[in-house]
Amino acid sequence: MDILKDLEAIKENFKTEYEKCGCMLQLENVRTAFLGRKGELNNILKNISSLSVDEKRVIGKQANMLKNEFSVRLRELKEALMDSQSSDETHGIDVTLPGIRPRIGTTHPLTKTLSRINNIFISMGFRIAEGREIETEFYNFEALNIPLDHPSRDAFDTFYVDEKYLLRSHTSNVQIHVMEDRKPPIQVIMPGRVYRPDAVDATHSFMFHQVEGLMVDKDISFSDLKGVLLYFCKSMFGEDIKMRLRPHFFPFTEPSAEVDISCIMCKGKGCRVCSGNGWLEILGAGMVNPKVFEAVGYDTDRYTGFAFGMGAERIAMLLYGIEDIRLFYENDIRFLGQFA
Ligand code: PHE
Repeated sequence: MDILKDLEAIKENFKTEYEKCGCMLQLENVRTAFLGRKGELNNILKNISSLSVDEKRVIGKQANMLKNEFSVRLRELKEALMDSQSSDETHGIDVTLPGIRPRIGTTHPLTKTLSRINNIFISMGFRIAEGREIETEFYNFEALNIPLDHPSRDAFDTFYVDEKYLLRSHTSNVQIHVMEDRKPPIQVIMPGRVYRPDAVDATHSFMFHQVEGLMVDKDISFSDLKGVLLYFCKSMFGEDIKMRLRPHFFPFTEPSAEVDISCIMCKGKGCRVCSGNGWLEILGAGMVNPKVFEAVGYDTDRYTGFAFGMGAERIAMLLYGIEDIRLFYENDIRFLGQFA
């Protein structure tokens, strides 16, 4: 019978492999190869049903004998291996050495800053909205009343992907999506990445983060804007922070302002960080220009609103005294590890 010969061959094979076993891993491999569900013995027993009753008896008996023999041999070997491992350093492993402690990660300072900003606005009832980073000219410019001849639409100031798409140069595009999708009252902040083809240096990066804000309803006034921003500045930088608004121009807000806080380093006395004038610019803001409401089909007689936008890196740099924006993106754990 061929099968008996096969069993004989398996026995021989087992002997050779067994004698080569020098460690638990090899032993486990031999066990799977010969006794496992898909092992050599099971392979043979799988086909036993096609045999005659006599053949079945002989082969079944033989196979069971081998199974027992293999198990006993492997158990003996296992015990021997365990003895030799516990008594010396067979494998060069000294189990008494202390382990390698895994590094515990820390939250990125920018992520920390963004969530602080978000939480302050959430505490005032704002919700978070997110928009797309690859955008059309309509959402990034036209709907925001930025005309074709505005310098920010120049190829030097914006990354164009092709004729139709560009990388958004600010988060103000999300204002338009939100207003297209919903009716007032609206009270959202819109954090996210923005892109500008600026040469990289200590204060510029081709990519950075902004947090945009938008509130629209009946009777929203400039004093609401001031109240919200003052609350934000004090929550972010401390109760004794002063805030001032300087007239400015943005096509999508009217009137517009740039917002400064008293220098957090010198408390307004004048130092290197505030270039000696005691104030730090932190964001742009204003009342939503009715032309923007027209672009999204809002009734300009019924609704008013305010919008603002700030650079998250700038806020984080002031908050933590970081002097180079590039540190945020270099993944240097000597830097990142300081923000536990
Ligand atoms: N989008 C402006 C910028 O990137 C910031 C801004 C947002 C100003 C909303 C006013 C209102 O500079």
